[in-house]
Amino acid sequence: MLVLGIETSCDESGVALYHTQRGLLGHRLHSQSALHEPYGGVVPELASRDHIRRVLPLVRNLLQATGVELAQLNGIAYTRGPGLAGALLVGASIANALAHALNIPAVGVHHMEGHLLVPLLEPDPPPFPFVALLVSGGHTQLIEVERVGRYTLLGETVDDAAGEAFDKTAKLLGLGYPGGAEISKLALQGQPGRFKLPRPMLKSRDLNFSFSGLKTAVAQLVRTQPLDDALRADIARSFQDAMVDVLAAKAWQALKQTGLNTLVVAGGVGANRQLREGLAILGARAGFRVFYPRVEFCTDNGAMIAYAGALRLRDPRPPGLGFSITPRWELADIMS
Ligand code: KG4
Ligand code: ZN
Repeated sequence: MLVLGIETSCDESGVALYHTQRGLLGHRLHSQSALHEPYGGVVPELASRDHIRRVLPLVRNLLQATGVELAQLNGIAYTRGPGLAGALLVGASIANALAHALNIPAVGVHHMEGHLLVPLLEPDPPPFPFVALLVSGGHTQLIEVERVGRYTLLGETVDDAAGEAFDKTAKLLGLGYPGGAEISKLALQGQPGRFKLPRPMLKSRDLNFSFSGLKTAVAQLVRTQPLDDALRADIARSFQDAMVDVLAAKAWQALKQTGLNTLVVAGGVGANRQLREGLAILGARAGFRVFYPRVEFCTDNGAMIAYAGALRLRDPRPPGLGFSITPRWELADIMS
C-alpha cells in the first residue's frame, strides 16, 4: 500500500510517500520559520496562507523525484489535529479533494500519534511496549504505549510545553524564533551552575510538568541585569540544564512506575543534544534504552503522518465528501 502524507498543523508544510513494503520513499518539507520570525511566534493566518501556497508544489516535486504517479496512490493521510484550525483545514481539504478525485480513502491522523510512531521508521526501531516522552512546541506528555493505537497518558504539563518554554526563554534572551535550537547552541558556551534555576515539580509524586515558573525565573534574571553575550550564554546553560534535569527525571520515574525499560523521545525538543546526552548517561546508569527518530523527524514532518496513516489505513473506510478537523484532540481519544 502506498500512502501520501500531508502535515500542515502549524508552521511546517510536510509531505511524504510511505510504502508498506518498501518503506519511506521520500519526503519534502517547507519550514515557515523565516515567515514568522519577525513576529516572534506563529501567526495563524499567515501559516494557513503559506500552506495553501506550498503543499501542492511539494507534492508535485516529491512525486516527480520518486517517479510515483498519483494513480499509484492507495490512500492519503493528513493531520486532522491537534493544531491551528486554519492550517489544519488546508491539509484536510487538499487531502480529501485528492482522495475523492482518485477514489481512494483519506484518513485524518492525530499529530501526536505521528510523533510517537515515527521512531518505528528507523533501522533499529523501539520494541513495544515503551514509554514515550513527547516534547514539542505545543505538548509535553509521558505516554505508555502498549502497541499501535493503545496509549495511556501518564502525565503532562500543567502550563507551558517544553518547546514553548524554550521559545519564550529564547525571546527573553533576544534570540530568534523558534528558539530551542538557538538556546542549545548558545548554552554550549555557557558556564554551568552560575544560576540556580528552579526544577519545577521535580519532587512532585506525579508525572506532570510545569515550566512557566522556570520561564519567569529567567525573566527575573533578564530584568535585573544588563544582558551581554556571556550572561546570555550562562542563562541559556542554566535554563537548559534545569529543563534536561526535569525531563530526564520524570521520564525515568515513568519507566520505574510502568516497569518498562524502553524510552522513546519524540517531538521538536527531542532534537536537543544536551537532553540526548543527559538521557544517555541516565539510561546507562539505570538500565533503560532510549530511542529517537532521526533529527529531521523530531520536528514536524510529512513522514510521520504518512506512516501513522498507513497503519490506520489497514482498516480503510470508503471515501466520502465530508471531512472534519479537530484542533483540540486528546491522544487518549483515538484508542483502538
Ligand atoms: O514538534 P515540533 O516541530 O512542533 C510541534 O508539534 O509543536 O516542535 C517544535 C518545538 C519548538 O518549540 C522548538 O523550539 C523546539 O521544538 N526545538 C528544540 C530544538 N529544536 C526544536 N528545543 C530544544 N532544542 C532543540 N535543539
Ligand atoms: Zn509536532
